[in-house]
Amino acid sequence: MTRRIRIVEVGPRDGLQNEPAAVPTATRVALIGRLADAGLRVIEAGAFVSPKWVPQMADSAQVLAALDRRPGVAYPVLVPNEKGLEAAIAAGVEEVAVFGAASETFSRKNINCSIAESLERFRPVVSRALGAGIRVRGYVSCVLGCPYEGAVAPDTVAGVAAELATMGCYEISLGDTIGVGTPSAVARLIAAVEHHVPIDRLAAHFHDTYGQALVNIHVALQNGIDVVDSSVAGLGGCPFAKGATGNVATEDVVYMLDGLGYDSGVDIAALARAGDFITQAIGRPNRSRAGSALLAKAAAAPG
Ligand code: HMG
Ligand code: MG
Repeated sequence: MTRRIRIVEVGPRDGLQNEPAAVPTATRVALIGRLADAGLRVIEAGAFVSPKWVPQMADSAQVLAALDRRPGVAYPVLVPNEKGLEAAIAAGVEEVAVFGAASETFSRKNINCSIAESLERFRPVVSRALGAGIRVRGYVSCVLGCPYEGAVAPDTVAGVAAELATMGCYEISLGDTIGVGTPSAVARLIAAVEHHVPIDRLAAHFHDTYGQALVNIHVALQNGIDVVDSSVAGLGGCPFAKGATGNVATEDVVYMLDGLGYDSGVDIAALARAGDFITQAIGRPNRSRAGSALLAKAAAAPG
């Protein structure tokens, strides 16, 4: 049977949260529509975070209101606290994500509290969300290194992941926020985490700062992870992790999955056109190698 890989497209959130200029609401909505047209079934649509901290996501309620929500497509959003959850519920979301870290300094810089405080803050958020019939995903950032503290111990990641899973997060996404990981470190990380959280509840969320994301994903797949977070055209970065570049490009992931004979349900040509649309709209280079190659090939084709 063909192995199915679920892609969580984070471009409209992780990809656009770092843009220096505001991206018009209509552009984000059009991007999400094109991603759904390309076959993506999970599209992170925004974040209900403080607009003072991340002004780029301040229009997330408007984005959700304007979306043509398709059956079978999930549009999760980030929530850091109960205030964010309330706004997300008012916007009619079906899924939210809480986001913690395995590094104390990054936790402080990103959400202004310690790791322990963040877990206490998430507990009522998760239980309220679950009570309202909303699914909750959990992120752990800096799983392979921290921009402030350097090396991060796999056991620390495992501890935070286990807490989030016990709280009721259905899946834990392991974030290499600054893209420093290498294949053997990924294998060691998964070995440590799967001791506490079953492999079928883990996802790989890798940024591509050092060009290692795709090979790291391959290692994650070989180790049994079936869920990959990625961003169309490789957009993105985290405003609180200086120097970090975008997520691995969704087009590159789909190209690799197609070659491996795995089923992502994504039409790579339509996805490449979505990448072209958003990079042109915001005046950014297309950081997907596969997307750029496919667009160049299509442009050169006769007719
Ligand atoms: P704080 O300043 O400690 O919060 O920030 P506060 O509770 O003291 O509130 C300060 C102000 O923000 C108040 O407004 C609140 O009402 C407001 P004021 O009274 O000053 O006018 N506020 C909010 N407004 C809207 N929505 C909310 C909200 N909460 C408070 N939910 C806080 C703490 C967590 C709010 C802040 O630090 C924050 O919003 N951080 C978000 C940072 C963020 O979005 N980072 C990027 C996403 S994480 C990421 O990219 C990593 C990931 O991709 C995985 C990976 O790559 O590793 C997920
Ligand atoms: Mg990220």
